[in-house]
This record gives sequence, structure tokens and C-alpha cells, in this order.
Amino acid sequence: MGCVAVDDLRQGMVLSEDVRDIHSRLLLSRGQTINEKHLRILKIWGVCTVNVVGASKEAIDAPDWNDPGRLADARQTVDALFKFVNADHKALRIVYEASVAQRCKDGAARPAAGGFAVGEGIETDIDVAAIRRRIADRRLKLPDAPTIISELNGVIADPFATSNDVARVVHKSPTLAALLLRIVNSAYYGFPSRIDRITRAVTIIGTKEISNLALGICVMRAFKDIPADIIDMHAFIRHSLACGLIARMIAAQINLAETEQVSVAGLLHDIGKLVLYKYYPAAMAVARGHATATDGSVYQSEKALLGMNHTQLAQQLLQHWQIPAVLTNTITCHHKPSTARDVTKAAIVQMADLIANGLGFGTSGERAIPVFDETAWGKLNVPAPNVNLVIRQALHQMRALDIAIV
Ligand SMILES: [Fe+2]
Ligand SMILES: [Fe+2]
Repeated sequence: MGCVAVDDLRQGMVLSEDVRDIHSRLLLSRGQTINEKHLRILKIWGVCTVNVVGASKEAIDAPDWNDPGRLADARQTVDALFKFVNADHKALRIVYEASVAQRCKDGAARPAAGGFAVGEGIETDIDVAAIRRRIADRRLKLPDAPTIISELNGVIADPFATSNDVARVVHKSPTLAALLLRIVNSAYYGFPSRIDRITRAVTIIGTKEISNLALGICVMRAFKDIPADIIDMHAFIRHSLACGLIARMIAAQINLAETEQVSVAGLLHDIGKLVLYKYYPAAMAVARGHATATDGSVYQSEKALLGMNHTQLAQQLLQHWQIPAVLTNTITCHHKPSTARDVTKAAIVQMADLIANGLGFGTSGERAIPVFDETAWGKLNVPAPNVNLVIRQALHQMRALDIAIV
């Protein structure tokens, strides 16, 4: 059996696995012979890939193993990337192998996470102790939330909010409305036909999903003025979008009801890094240097040098902006999901982050995948083959996803 894109699916092919939508509703059963109506169903429900009998496998199963030098280079890169996690863990092994395969395929074109220049040329001769004191004293003056964020918070909190309510708020910012439609019409959702109005997007995708997505975009856009010599925002956004997308896919594997919360938590999981890049760029450059010198992760170095890491700064920002508490907690705990109020959601975001880093979908500046909470992930009971399925879907959808939201 093998995985084929729905665009390449032909009548007469036979499904080798059940096909479910992103909410895990059964659309077509294993053994079904594909006909014209089935093709239509799959496209309507935004299914991107299916497994069929006899098809050749996706590239992640068929890397260029014929070039031993390339394979050795890829393994070396991925070993460095996975050095803080147990690559023999069943699910992580699948991500590891997919990561090697991707790098074999792309060669040197795909660097390990952290492969872009962060803060190069930034003055690093700074008083780290003073910054540490300022952060500890909470003397960092966080900006007030843009009005539209407060209004979106209101829509999200209102169980009776309609598509018109969401559209009314979103349309207050033409940029937001345009971006939202670009994402809705992108591979992020994979809908076959174009959605041209916010109200229609809300009807098809859901009030909560669209409001949360709008909220996520607005929070990210609050950091749009960070200079390119401090951080490659394109790579950062790609990493964030990948994490949101993959988190939603994992959530669907376990039939989680509130996929929109996981999705936006994935999108915003590293928002605390943007706080650091914006207000303490020199400190972040020093933290990266420290991580390299100590052969640790930037996440560890943030704490060691600044007394606080990006998850704690994210908590300060999101609480200040009155972002829903569960969402804030999931983001805050994405490196330690066992400590989260909702362990499931935080564990999903951590795995989504790991997959995004492993497959090289952008980067937020980390040099290696931080320590993974195997206990929290184990509670989700996601079968290892389903991780493989998520990776295939992610590879398919990320290939076509290229959106600048800041
Ligand atoms: Fe993080
Ligand atoms: Fe991340």
C-alpha cells in the first residue's frame, strides 16, 4: 500500500485504510473502490492524501538511500538535532527517520533547526545581569493589547457568537480579513474550492476555529516590526504555522473536540521568543552563543542567563492581553506538558513542535529539539503509525504553504 495525494487519486483505485476528515469522522472505508463521487467527497472535506492498495510510497519512505555519503551527512545532522530526546522512543523514531529522509532528499538545502542567522551583527557585549534583574522585577513594559484582540477575546468567550459577529470584528482590520482568507484558502485547510467571504469561512470552518485563528494572527502581527537582522520572521512564521497545522492533525487522530484551541496554541507556542527578540535582541544573541558554547538548547540557555525562558514571558504577555486561560496555559507548558492544566493539548503542541523542527519546517531559532515529555505523550495513546500519517499529511500540505502573516 502507499500514500497518494487526492489530486493523483484515480477511479478504480482501492483504499487500503479508512479515510477520515480532520475531525476523525469516517468518510470512506478501507476496501472501497474509488469512483467519481468519492473523489468529490474527499475534495469537499479537504482530505489531502489517502492510502491505496499498490501505490508507491511517499518520498518519506523512499529517500535517496543510494548515496551513502548523503545518508551519513543527513544522519549526522539529525543526530545533532535529536540529541536531547530519546530517538529510540517509538513515535520519535518515526519522526527521526522522516527527518533523515527529508534531509537526504533535500541535501544541504535543509539545515537543522536554528539554521538561520539570529541576531548576527547584534551587539552582544551587554549587561546580562541587569537584563535578568529587569525581567525578574517585571520591569519589562509589555504593550497593551491591540483593540481587535480584546474584541476577538469577546467573540471567543461568547457561546452564542454568530458568523456575522466574527466577520464584524475581523473586517475592522482589512489586513486581518485578507490574511485570514489567504490562510483559509491555502493548504493550511486544503479546501478544494475558494472561500471568498469571512462569513462563509466561519460557516464552513466554524466560529471558534476562525476566531481563534484571527486571534493568533493578531498576536503574531503585534511583533511584525522586529528587524530582519534580529530574526528571520519568514522562517519563524513557517515554523509557527507548521506547528499549528500539525497540532490540528494530531488532535484529529484522537478525536479531540476543541481542535481550534490546539491549532492556535501551536501557532503561538513560541510567542515568548518574539517578546525576547523584540525587547532583548542582544540577550537572545548571547543566549544562542551560550547554547552553542555549552552544547545545550537555547531554551535552557534562556533560563540560565536571563532567569526566565520564552514560555514564562509568553505567560506574562498573554495574561496581560487577557487571552483565554486554557490557551495561555497550553502555550506556557509546551515544553513541560505534564505540568499543564490540559496535559493532552500541551502534549500535542510539544509533539507538533518536535515534528515541525524535525522536518525542518521553518525555525524559531532553536538549535536542537528540546527535551521531550514522553509521559505526557504516552497518555494520548496515539498509535505510532498515526504519527507517520500525520507526517505524510504535513509534508503534503506544507509543500504548498507559504504565507507571510507579519
Ligand atoms: Fe518553545
Ligand atoms: Fe517551536
